[in-house]
Order: sequence, then C-alpha cells, then structure tokens
Amino acid sequence: MSDLAYSGGRAAVPVVARLSGVRKRYGENTVLDNVDFSVREGEFVALVGPSGTGKTTLLRLLAGLESASNGRTEVSGNTSVVFQEPRLIQAQRVWKNVLLDDAHQPDARSRAAAALQDVGLEDKLESWPVSLSGGQAQRVAVARALYRRPDLMLLDEPFSALDAFTRRSMQSLVLKLWAKYAFGAVIVTHDLDEALIVADRIVILSKGRICHETRVDLPRERDVTSPEFNALKRDLLKQFSLSLS
Ligand SMILES: Nc1ncnc2c1ncn2[C@@H]1O[C@H](COP(=O)(O)OP(=O)(O)OP(=O)(O)O)[C@@H](O)[C@H]1O
Ligand SMILES: [Mg+2]
Repeated sequence: MSDLAYSGGRAAVPVVARLSGVRKRYGENTVLDNVDFSVREGEFVALVGPSGTGKTTLLRLLAGLESASNGRTEVSGNTSVVFQEPRLIQAQRVWKNVLLDDAHQPDARSRAAAALQDVGLEDKLESWPVSLSGGQAQRVAVARALYRRPDLMLLDEPFSALDAFTRRSMQSLVLKLWAKYAFGAVIVTHDLDEALIVADRIVILSKGRICHETRVDLPRERDVTSPEFNALKRDLLKQFSLSLS
C-alpha cells in the first residue's frame, strides 16, 4: 500500500491494512457503518466492544473471508487468522495441522517444525491433537498462523477459552513472536487488561461504528499494577460505558 500513516510525530510507517468508509450489511441488518480503520506495519491493535457489535465481521473483512457492501478494503501481503477455538483436524498429526494443504512444499516439514519451535512445541510434532491441552492446541493454531509468515495476524478472542494463567503466558508468547517477526496484528478481546498488555492502540467498536481510540504508550513488558496502566484502564472503562449508552 503506497500511502503512509503518521503517529504522534513519529516516523511515517506504511499501512498494511485499511478499511475506508466500509459498510457491511446482512440483509436489512447494517453490521458495520462507515468504518475507517487501519493497521500500520508492525503495529499491534486491540479491538474491543460489546457483543454483536461487528468485531468478528471487521476481522473477517480484513482476512478476505467477507466482502464489504460499500467502501474499500485494502490489505497488503499475507494474512493469518487465529480463532477462539484452535480448529485442529483431529485425524492429522500436529505438524500436518500446521501445514494444512501445504504438505507438498519441499521445505514444508522443517518450516512446520520451526513454527512449532517458536511456540515451544517442538516435542509435539508427531502428537495427535487429542493429546494436547487447550493451551497447547491454541499454540498449534498460532504456529499454523505463523507458518504462513503473515504481514497481518488477526486474532479473534484467541485466549478467551483458557484459564487466567495460560492466557497470560499466551499473551507473552504472542508478544514475543510479534517482536521477532514484526507482523501487524489485530486482536479482538473482551478483556481490557489483555488489550492494555498487548496493544499499541485500542479501538472501541460499538453498534457498528468506531467510537473511541486510545494509544497505549507504555513500555513493554507492561506492569498491570502501575498507576499509568490503571489510569488508562479507568479511562477505557469510562469510554466503554459511554459506548453502551
Ligand atoms: N453470516 C452472517 N449472516 C447474518 N448475520 C450475521 C452474519 N455474521 C454476523 N452476523 C450478524 O452481525 C452482527 C455482528 O456480528 P459479529 O460476529 O461481527 O459480532 P461480534 O462483535 O464479533 O460479537 P461477539 O463479541 O459476540 O463475538 C450480529 O448481529 C450477527 O448476528
Ligand atoms: Mg466475535
């Protein structure tokens, strides 16, 4: 994408994905209404908002799984999606779940092994999905997304089915991979702490419209007990409540 986004006086960074004036209708139901949304290369954006407000629909548009009723959708490079559930094929071993239909590529198995090593599952290459814990299965889903070498990683409530401890370690894992591979990322989450832990920018979507955006200019790794973190959280909670009214 040729044009650039500016951020608070920082160097211009190219945009990896952009929705401009996007409207999405299902029959009579307008789910997204005049949405402008962009992600810069290597930027981590969190998308939050009430249930049924169009977050998954926005992600599916970015992933090319849906098309807009009006407006423009532009995405450059590869896109990978991690869903709430790992969606593993039970009849295939872990490494083949990473590859999916890419098994014919000459270096595919070693790339699958590398992706599994990146998520700490190098010892599970030959395992069957049924033998994995929920957190391990979701790590395989992350490896599968990583294998595609995405320019844009889309994560739709990827950790919401996991316990708090596993969730926290998955957040650290995704941040580590993001720092290593510098993909742009959009995570949908209902957890404001999660949004504040991972994101450079948090966008609130309500009733199909973007109603608030905030930058998170805190150094990583973020301290959830710090006054700065909690001041941002309070402000976000206020904006979130306003978005419901
Ligand atoms: N394929 C579809 N056909 C018809 N309506 C749909 C379709 N997909 C989504 N919708 C509707 O679009 C609206 C937004 O759905 P979406 O899944 O994007 O919400 P969401 O913000 O992700 O919600 P949640 O937080 O519960 O996951 C809902 O009213 C939903 O019923
Ligand atoms: Mg959703």
